[in-house]
Amino acid sequence: MDARVNRPNDLASFWMPYTANRAFKASPRLCVSAKDMHYVTDDGRRILDGTAGLWCVNAGHARPKIVEAVQRQVAELDFAPTFQYGHPAAFTLAARLAQLFPAGLDHVFFTNSGSEAADSAMKIALAYHRARGEGQRIRFIGRERSYHGSGFGGMAVGGIAKNRLAFGAQVQPVAHMRHTHLPENAFSRGCPAHGKELADDLERLIALHDASTIAAVIVEPMAGSTGVLLPPEGYLARLREIADKYGILLIFDEVITAFGRLGTATAADYFGVTPDIMTLAKGLTNAVVPMGAAVASHAIYETVLENADVGIEFFHGYTYSGHPLACAAALATLDVYAEEDLFARAASLAPLWEERIHRLRDRRNVIDIRNLGLVGAIELAPRDGAPGARGYEVIERAFEAELMVRVTGDIIALSPPLIVSEEEIETMFSTLETVIDAIE
Ligand SMILES: Cc1ncc(COP(=O)(O)O)c(C=O)c1O
Repeated sequence: MDARVNRPNDLASFWMPYTANRAFKASPRLCVSAKDMHYVTDDGRRILDGTAGLWCVNAGHARPKIVEAVQRQVAELDFAPTFQYGHPAAFTLAARLAQLFPAGLDHVFFTNSGSEAADSAMKIALAYHRARGEGQRIRFIGRERSYHGSGFGGMAVGGIAKNRLAFGAQVQPVAHMRHTHLPENAFSRGCPAHGKELADDLERLIALHDASTIAAVIVEPMAGSTGVLLPPEGYLARLREIADKYGILLIFDEVITAFGRLGTATAADYFGVTPDIMTLAKGLTNAVVPMGAAVASHAIYETVLENADVGIEFFHGYTYSGHPLACAAALATLDVYAEEDLFARAASLAPLWEERIHRLRDRRNVIDIRNLGLVGAIELAPRDGAPGARGYEVIERAFEAELMVRVTGDIIALSPPLIVSEEEIETMFSTLETVIDAIE
């Protein structure tokens, strides 16, 4: 059989997201199947998944329990509306999530993606302040070099310049704290020691805009898409303190960090800092069916409900909020995480992961290495006049060498499925050593 039978003969029509379309279509990388730690390409090569797809396939690919749960669900109840009607799996899933998360974070608003989760969290924050008679709190504080998805809300609080550049004035008034990436922290193992005081940027922005105009501050506890930027020790606790002092809600975007990535159910658990709202997606369903969520505290939920007129309390939702297939995938995924103790597994692999990634320190062009849980980043110096060129070469060469990685500019990010073996970790890094050494 012609192994290339799966290659479409026209790649033009699909306008690919966050992709160098011209370069990709000239030299495509196509995956046609996946199992556990590997993808299979259209030409039959097995690619080691160093990025859990897009930080999302935490339990590994095509796990039978999840596949079967979705198959059963689609035959039994393909769709049911959740506007004024319901179906049991959505309630069961919300209750299970509430149990898994830090005490008090117990009301789950389902979305279809992390972007919608960010927008929903922002709308929940606005609705909450309005319900308590502080409707003038409409400003959000984000942070430079953060990513909260592609919706207008998430984009506004996000801090990646190119993601905002083409899209005009932001819809929502926002201000940004500085990012936490300091040169003196280069090659830190785990969270860096310097930079806790950067949280005081929140105080500075409050002094400028006044707390009475600010609804919430939103951060990724560990910034992923921007190249794995870790919170300095004590930084998140300081943000919590300042937010509390001024009645500002704290939102953690846990789209990447929830479901075991740091060796705990959430980054909130890992850092011992509980936000008022948390956003989720990705690992929630092991990426088998799209789903996200904004999880709000009891106080927020009660405030919005108690102060509403009779009828609908919160005018927000998506046709597919709590879609039956996504709920089935999520429930089965939670079972797999629990049965295989995958969060603890990530925690137990983290020391080996840290030790191995830092062995790349003296490789060609490497200017920083960062790690936490089962996340790692290797930062290469940008080539003169061509930032991102080395990074793109890494994608191409690694794929040729049968490894999938995520690259942001010249930063290589790694976040394998939590089922990764010690041997696969070794393969990942030795492949990367060869790839990096080959790049001018
Ligand atoms: C922290 C964070 N928030 C939000 C998003 C957006 O999620 P989605 O692509 O599902 O809309 C992402 C995606 O990478 C993310 O990393």
